[in-house]
Amino acid sequence: MPERAGAGAAAQMILELLPEPVILVRGADGEPPEIAYGNQAAREVFRLELAGAPLGAALRRPEVLETIEHALATSTSAEVAFETIGVQPRFWRAFARPLEAEPGAAKQLVVVLRDETDARRTERMRADFLANASHELRTPLASLAGFVETLRTHAKDDPEAREKFLGIMAQQATRMARLVDDLLSLSRIELNEHIAPSGKVDLARTVQDVSDAMRPLTADRGVTVAIDPGDDVGSVIGDRDQLVQVIQNLVDNAVKYTPRGGQVRVALRSAPTVEAARAPSRTGVGLSLLSPDASEGQAYVVLRVTDTGPGIARQHLPRLSERFYRVEGQRSGGTGLGLAIVKHVVNRHRGGLAVESAEGEGSTFSVYLPVAAS
Ligand SMILES: Nc1ncnc2c1ncn2[C@@H]1O[C@H](COP(=O)(O)OP(=O)(O)O)[C@@H](O)[C@H]1O
Ligand SMILES: [Mg+2]
Repeated sequence: MPERAGAGAAAQMILELLPEPVILVRGADGEPPEIAYGNQAAREVFRLELAGAPLGAALRRPEVLETIEHALATSTSAEVAFETIGVQPRFWRAFARPLEAEPGAAKQLVVVLRDETDARRTERMRADFLANASHELRTPLASLAGFVETLRTHAKDDPEAREKFLGIMAQQATRMARLVDDLLSLSRIELNEHIAPSGKVDLARTVQDVSDAMRPLTADRGVTVAIDPGDDVGSVIGDRDQLVQVIQNLVDNAVKYTPRGGQVRVALRSAPTVEAARAPSRTGVGLSLLSPDASEGQAYVVLRVTDTGPGIARQHLPRLSERFYRVEGQRSGGTGLGLAIVKHVVNRHRGGLAVESAEGEGSTFSVYLPVAAS
């Protein structure tokens, strides 16, 4: 960097160490602009020793180049967004600000780059999520509207058809209500996901309570639920209502996807370390869906829900906890949000989530949560 009056060594060092790429562009009238200086972040981004390089070597996109050249020539500020293509494409926004120059001296411009990749990705996810949620709501709504119309016209004087259609309408309404409930749950969980829970929860007790509450449903489906509480696994650090949601969702899935006559087992175990908590429980394909940033010496309680259902093919496993993801061909009538809710709750609890499954051999979902000091 050229020595300038007042720009001390500290200022230069700060500039050099700034995480944002900064370049200084210089251009004498009629000559193509060149880079006078680029800080360390800029050199890394452009993989160039920038000092003395033509501006076009760093910023190759014609429209970006033009904007910067124009700002330089007219000594005005400018802003331009662009994308760099590499192993991972990144989105940038460049802010150009003219520096005051002595009359007759070369014009100078500072260009600061801001990496907007993460913001773009978040924005994209939000848009996808809204589109998916609207679509999921619109389907039952369209069906409801269709039946209302039928009831008003063709089925007006047909009591039998009317009964049948009202039944379907009630189902669709229930489905929409469930969807809205799950969406609200998810957004509430996300709102305080960064605040770890501080309560103590007796998991064995909670599993028993949830199982009792679900008994009518499981009996109705012809599936038995057995609980193995382990030997006094103690309490975990948690929010009881949210852990109830976790257990409910996992048991509900296990029961829902298991044919009549099947068995679901809910087991609790102590694990002295995170490695022990992650250890596979069976043969088949296992995959971690969420792993905690484990702190040394942390012990966990592992909750496993195992079923004798159809199992899940390998290619679906990584996507199971995505919102609205459902394995094709499985008519669940569910919202596809259950495992997303589980994942967010477990993440808030600084715990882990894993699935083990093989087609035709049932599935095991494992959640592990940090033990509360006794
Ligand atoms: N125990 C299980 N056995 C087989 N498939 C399962 C099981 N649990 C979840 N799945 C699959 O994962 C998908 C996502 O589960 P979830 O998020 O709870 O949504 P859903 O509302 O469909 O139950 C389900 O649609 C189903 O295809
Ligand atoms: Mg579910």
